[in-house]
Amino acid sequence: MLETPRLILTPLRPGDERWLWRFMSEPRTMWAWGQPRSYAQLSDWIAWSREAEATWGLGRHLLRLKATGEPVGDCGFFVWEWQGRDRVDAGWIVDHRHWRQGYATEALGALLPALFARGHREAWAKMAWNNVGSWRTAEALDFERVGVFRYEPIRWDRMLLWRLDAPR
Ligand SMILES: CC(C)(COP(=O)(O)OP(=O)(O)OC[C@H]1O[C@@H](n2cnc3c(N)ncnc32)[C@H](O)[C@@H]1OP(=O)(O)O)[C@@H](O)C(=O)NCCC(=O)NCCS
Repeated sequence: MLETPRLILTPLRPGDERWLWRFMSEPRTMWAWGQPRSYAQLSDWIAWSREAEATWGLGRHLLRLKATGEPVGDCGFFVWEWQGRDRVDAGWIVDHRHWRQGYATEALGALLPALFARGHREAWAKMAWNNVGSWRTAEALDFERVGVFRYEPIRWDRMLLWRLDAPR
């Protein structure tokens, strides 16, 4: 578990489907993914998070407001195989009712140092070219834009690729 000034972050566990469902079934929150997630897909999501936890030491985390306990998002890491190597894939989803209040940057502001403290040297992020909120989040977290590429699993044909190196 990690804490930030306004959030409690807990690693995703089976049973968290019911909390993820509140925002990942929502077309507005999930607009950039092509379509919202079904309840059944959320079990895979949690399984991928646990795979990342086994590989990197940290996976995805449920974000809850300290003040109310309300779940407001899901941030953290997956494993992404790219150009023949497994990469730390950083990601962020915040319920649209809570956008632009700094929650994504606050959550990753705790998760990225925790990742680097485990000895990882870099994190990667990718998002649809027109997902301005997401690439602004990458910028706010000091990721550097390193490329543009095609990514079939998401409907948009151009993806921006970002990398953040661990502090020296
Ligand atoms: C991307 C997302 C996680 C950002 O969450 P958030 O909690 O609203 O982000 P923050 O409030 O921490 O904002 C981070 C930065 O992005 C900017 N930003 C956020 N949303 C923005 C938008 N829609 N347009 C322009 N800038 C935006 C903020 O101003 C801030 O920049 P600043 O520090 O320079 O002011 C949220 O919009 C989201 O969940 N989107 C849908 C899911 C998604 O597409 N996730 C990414 C998949 S790759």
